[in-house]
Amino acid sequence: MTKAKTVLVTGGAGFIGSNVNKHLNEAGYKTIVLDDLSTGCREAVTRGELIVGDMGNVSDLEPIFEKYKIDVVMHFAASIDVGESVKDPAKYYHNNVVKTLVLLDTMLKHKIKSFVFSSSAATYGEPKNGEGKLSEDSPCNPVNPYGETKLIVEHILRDYAKAYQLNSCSLRYFNAAGGDPDEEVKNRKIKESNLIPVVLHSLLEPNGSVTVFGTDYPTPDGTCIRDYIHLYDLSSAHIAAIEHLSTQEGATFYNLGNGNGYSVLEVIAATEKVTNRKVNVIHGDRREGDPPVLFSDASKARKELGWKPQYPQLESMISDAWNAYRNQ
Ligand code: WQD
Repeated sequence: MTKAKTVLVTGGAGFIGSNVNKHLNEAGYKTIVLDDLSTGCREAVTRGELIVGDMGNVSDLEPIFEKYKIDVVMHFAASIDVGESVKDPAKYYHNNVVKTLVLLDTMLKHKIKSFVFSSSAATYGEPKNGEGKLSEDSPCNPVNPYGETKLIVEHILRDYAKAYQLNSCSLRYFNAAGGDPDEEVKNRKIKESNLIPVVLHSLLEPNGSVTVFGTDYPTPDGTCIRDYIHLYDLSSAHIAAIEHLSTQEGATFYNLGNGNGYSVLEVIAATEKVTNRKVNVIHGDRREGDPPVLFSDASKARKELGWKPQYPQLESMISDAWNAYRNQ
């Protein structure tokens, strides 16, 4: 297949989608961004054409597939809050599974058979091995509806590859962090519940503070360890995935992480160093469902996609996130 020319980016007004949209255009692709702006923001779409609509609504999809010669669909549009998914699973199964099925079936009707899917490390659930390292061979037992929805879509893609030759690449993100190093993409509605945005936000609020969810874990400093991955590196993996799809058949999936971890207290210390400000820390109880340690074995993406993170340093991620936050 010749190099893909036009990419439909669903959810391209969101935190990760908007940065990948920019990166796709820089790499020479034409993008059509479809976003309902329920959580994303119009200003974050700095390249390509934005169409405001619902990726799970056939009457929004048909005109796009009829008007543009779409070569690949890159699917970011989803509900992504783990805590909310526990409280309102119906919203998550509808938005993340039912709507994705509508998208896939409409793609097949228009003979579009290349799909890059924004998946998650939440597909694994809690690692069974004591060390917390997760490879693509690790068992997948999600512990929340959000993770379930991502795994269900991956299973749909496996079956659609066999039955309909729809080729896909699912990218299992670990902990996305950072911001656009060029500061072009501004994400006003960055999800507040993740650790790094919460810590940075606490510095921008009068008397702001951060509650550390548990300091009695079996880790060196008692706080949870996670594998943080720069937004730019997540984005470059999506470009590599499209290139890979032009020669690969079937449904594949890859971990996207740096292969090491930082604790909550290390993130807070790095934030203080980057911002030269003191973070007001409150030691709180553990948060349900938090494994002590989670980090990736991302060697498969390095080997098969030729992907190599450029910004593995925690301080780079925090510095870029801080610049993006302060300039909102
Ligand atoms: C990280 C650590 C918290 C906030 C989530 C999703 C996962 C993926 C990445 C999409 C944990 C601690 C946090 C706070 C804290 N998302 N923390 N105080 O839970 O590792 O992963 O985002 O694919 O699916 O589950 O990320 O940033 O919420 O938490 O102490 O105010 O920081 O307990 O140990 P998490 P997180």
